[in-house]
Amino acid sequence: MVVTIDGPAGSGKSTIARLLAQRLGFAFLDTGAMYRAVTLAALRRGWTEAEAAALAELVPHLHIAFDGQRTWLNGEDVSQAIRRPEVTAAVHLAADNPHVRQRLVELQRQHAQGKDLVTEGRDQGTVVFPDAECKFFLTASRQERARRRWDELRRRGAAVTLEEVLAEQDARDQRDASRAIGALRKAADAIEICTDGLSPEDVVARLEAIVRQRQAAATAAI
Ligand code: DC
Repeated sequence: MVVTIDGPAGSGKSTIARLLAQRLGFAFLDTGAMYRAVTLAALRRGWTEAEAAALAELVPHLHIAFDGQRTWLNGEDVSQAIRRPEVTAAVHLAADNPHVRQRLVELQRQHAQGKDLVTEGRDQGTVVFPDAECKFFLTASRQERARRRWDELRRRGAAVTLEEVLAEQDARDQRDASRAIGALRKAADAIEICTDGLSPEDVVARLEAIVRQRQAAATAAI
């Protein structure tokens, strides 16, 4: 069974998807981490926006792995490095590149083979797993999403203002919604859940109940 969770930055996808996978005993895939790993590799080579087209040639030389907790790039644990602000600021280089997307979509489908999976991103229910048995689209208000991200950054010791976080989030939302391939879009058959004012436990409990209902219905149909 594949469960997809899509939604904008700060909607709670990562936390929810990870917890849901634990509760269900499913594997977990964070596809944003894969786009971040490609971006990190490009930044380490000193690549600028002008060289973005060359990214496609870089991808076949990268070995990206995700073990449910950590992200590995050519054998190195890059889980911390891919969360740095400079990677977040440049991740559109990878996410806007159709060749990079094509390769990462292949890797994501390979990852799902032979297992039950909870996967989160922007295009999981629309492009990567259009036939997934259970699709969710998580949202939250612009202010709530920015406040969550601001809290997280301050916990990590970053000196940023809420206004800066909001501006960066707006720019990312705009890019995520307007990219030619793999744009953030709710699949027609996805269940939309607004997480404003809900704890992660509340949201996970709701999602878990829906997945278990679908599992029971699928078993009954056999
Ligand atoms: O979820 P995140 O912030 O780690 O994602 C990083 C970026 O990668 C985000 O700006 C959009 C992009 N992304 C994407 O285009 N498609 C995905 N399936 C996942 C992430």
